[in-house]
Amino acid sequence: MSDTLIEVRELRKHFPIRRGVLQRVTGHVRAVDGVGFRVGKGETLGVVGESGCGKSTMGRSILRLIEPTSGTVEFQGKNILNLSKADMQLMRRQMQIVFQDPYASLNPRFTVAKTLMEPMIVHKLHDKATRMSRVKSLLERVGLDPDYAERFPHEFSGGQRQRIGIARALTLNPKLLILDEPVAALDVSVQSQVLNLLKDLQDEFALTYLFIAHDLSVVRHISDRVLVLYLGRMAELADTDSIFSDPLHPYTKALLSAVPIPDPDVRRERIILKGDLPSPANPPKGCPFHTRCPVAAQICREQVPEWREAKQGHFVACHLA
Ligand SMILES: Nc1ncnc2c1ncn2[C@@H]1O[C@H](COP(=O)(O)OP(=O)(O)O)[C@@H](O)[C@H]1O
Ligand code: SF4
Ligand SMILES: [Mg+2]
Repeated sequence: MSDTLIEVRELRKHFPIRRGVLQRVTGHVRAVDGVGFRVGKGETLGVVGESGCGKSTMGRSILRLIEPTSGTVEFQGKNILNLSKADMQLMRRQMQIVFQDPYASLNPRFTVAKTLMEPMIVHKLHDKATRMSRVKSLLERVGLDPDYAERFPHEFSGGQRQRIGIARALTLNPKLLILDEPVAALDVSVQSQVLNLLKDLQDEFALTYLFIAHDLSVVRHISDRVLVLYLGRMAELADTDSIFSDPLHPYTKALLSAVPIPDPDVRRERIILKGDLPSPANPPKGCPFHTRCPVAAQICREQVPEWREAKQGHFVACHLA
């Protein structure tokens, strides 16, 4: 196992629900509710789960773009949740995020050059000429013509805009990238090009990835290990091959059943989950998945399943797995 770059422990983000004229707190949305894992240097951890299960909140909490409620996030052995604003600002150079929607995350009034230079200006890095030459080499590196530097976001296609978003995340030479559904908004044909680009960049710049997606097929070819989230909690964690060949959690099995198989001779029964994702403001007692689990038993309604290592390096939270 490689050296740990980042280790998250017992991370929680509960959003207060406020009601009435007095805006009293009447409850909490438990968007992230006790998540912990490590990611090794140069590794890619895929994070999957359906929409609303807390993936973005987790990614943002790790970077302190929103303040977590509790837990620790150790980056190179240091708990960054204790850092002062100034120290956190310095730390941000090392950890960057790429958002799902490249159009919403790029300022429409900024040229590409200005967008890419801004992080260097904020962090007072390099002189003007060096910044511009970095912009051009980054554009080239993500597969865009350096002469596009003076253009605006609307002049690009979705795939090109996401390349700009990736270039912006790389301007400060980070070690960790949190990729929050970076290809979900792109056409299928463009998705694989951007995934290939991310793979190449990872090798070239020795990057560590936390790769968030809502379905398993996207993370398959880029992840070393996969973490499955359900209602802000961890359902399963294992290396990618084990997740695909030997899924243990009924939720993972359901997600997997939706992934198309290229071989027409192999068939897989599609598991349709009943009902919607329960509200994280009022999660089910016992196993959070029991209201939709096809094999739920009595114990599942009463006791929270423990997070345990079912096989070497293969973790699951399920009474029956
Ligand atoms: N700022 C917020 N205030 C209240 N609830 C929020 C906020 N942001 C997200 N949530 C809720 O937290 C849950 C997880 O959301 P999110 O992290 O966006 O999930 P995902 O990225 O997996 O789709 C959802 O129920 C969402 O409505
Ligand atoms: S603990 Fe029970 S309800 Fe939860 S996933 Fe396992 S079998 Fe299903
Ligand atoms: Mg999200």
